Amino acid sequence: MTERYARLTGWGRYVPEKRLTNVDLEKMVETSDEWITQRTGIKERRIRGEKDTNTSMAVAAGQEALKVAGISAQDLDFIIVCTSSPDYLLPSAGSLVQDALGADCGAVQVTAGCSGWVYGAVMADALIRAGVHNAILVIGVEIVSYGIDYTDRKTCVLFGDAAAATVFQASDQPSGILASELGSDGAKAQALWVPGGGSAWPISPEVVEQRQHYIQMDGPEVFKFASRVVGSSLKRTIAQAGLLPEDIDLFIPHQANARIIEAGARFMRQPIEKFYMNLQYYGNTSAASVPLALVEAIEEGRLKDGCKVAMVAFGAGLTWGSVVIQMGVGEVSPAHVLFSAGRARYLAKRARETVLDTAQAAWCPFIPGLIRGGVPSAVRFALKILIKHLCAT
Ligand code: COA
Repeated sequence: MTERYARLTGWGRYVPEKRLTNVDLEKMVETSDEWITQRTGIKERRIRGEKDTNTSMAVAAGQEALKVAGISAQDLDFIIVCTSSPDYLLPSAGSLVQDALGADCGAVQVTAGCSGWVYGAVMADALIRAGVHNAILVIGVEIVSYGIDYTDRKTCVLFGDAAAATVFQASDQPSGILASELGSDGAKAQALWVPGGGSAWPISPEVVEQRQHYIQMDGPEVFKFASRVVGSSLKRTIAQAGLLPEDIDLFIPHQANARIIEAGARFMRQPIEKFYMNLQYYGNTSAASVPLALVEAIEEGRLKDGCKVAMVAFGAGLTWGSVVIQMGVGEVSPAHVLFSAGRARYLAKRARETVLDTAQAAWCPFIPGLIRGGVPSAVRFALKILIKHLCAT
């Protein structure tokens, strides 16, 4: 049986017109353009207009993606709408989008916080590879602003509204999603959550009075988690694709904070120029963030047929996910061809990467060890980490 791949054939986006700048926020909470820019890299974000709903934004992005793919809504086999801000608790955002698009197929809502679109794309890939469906629309859409407390400076400066859509279609040539990883650490659920308004604590005057129907976030905890997961998840997924970080033409990380992206680039030992950023214009648009960056990177000509793009997201859950996508059609990685010179070259380069990773893992704790307890303590500390790292690889 020939292998099936989920090829990326369409993309589109919708961003509301209304801009909320850092200077606007200075008038709403005790903050400054300087603080927001330095700590996050964000300059402005979009906020939904009066007529924008989760469904209308998803449909606008979806229609654009269908046009690029050259198919109609009737050609779709399945729709996955990734969102944490649906129009209603019931029915699912998937059904509303299916009806508004005029599609005649199954549809579902996927909620995985800001990792939503990566989760949706991986599910679409699995459904296509398994031969269940041939054409799937995956949309990331958020009206995050509805869940934001605009008196809470810790969260209100970060988020914005947007939608972006992708079409995946069956192909028998290596293309689309080459490898992926999905992860969740529910033990850290309360680092980023909405405590009130669900069935555990239904909406009530008390919930509203205590502002518990808004997003609550432990910023530094999420920051620590994200800085770790961006680089490590990307590395694992790139290796699973039979590639090296140097083979990736563009990295598209979740657009939450420029400092998290810079930490990821350092961890990957890749130039920051290879990491796409548009967070300065939109802030963190949650499940729309990664696909929106993907669409803009394609429109700017940074991703042509033949390019390989590695994407990573993280968010409420806490969840994370990464995918490597082949634009257009590619070839099977030499790493996957047994007894080939290409595989030997790949394995040699991977061995070099592992040595560098190990040295990096040992070097990082060496400095704090030196400061705390001098050379013997630093060496002891570094050796401990080195052994742990070697055992894990
Ligand atoms: N303007 C001015 N000062 C602010 C501020 C704002 N918007 N938000 C927080 N501060 C203050 C804090 O109150 C604190 O003051 P204090 O020292 O007097 O208590 C100080 O700045 C430092 O706060 P801290 O939260 O430690 O700052 P930080 O460097 O960690 O940056 C975030 C805060 C939110 C930008 C950062 O933690 C972050 O990006 N976390 C990840 C969040 C994220 O990505 N969430 C979405 C995941 S999908």
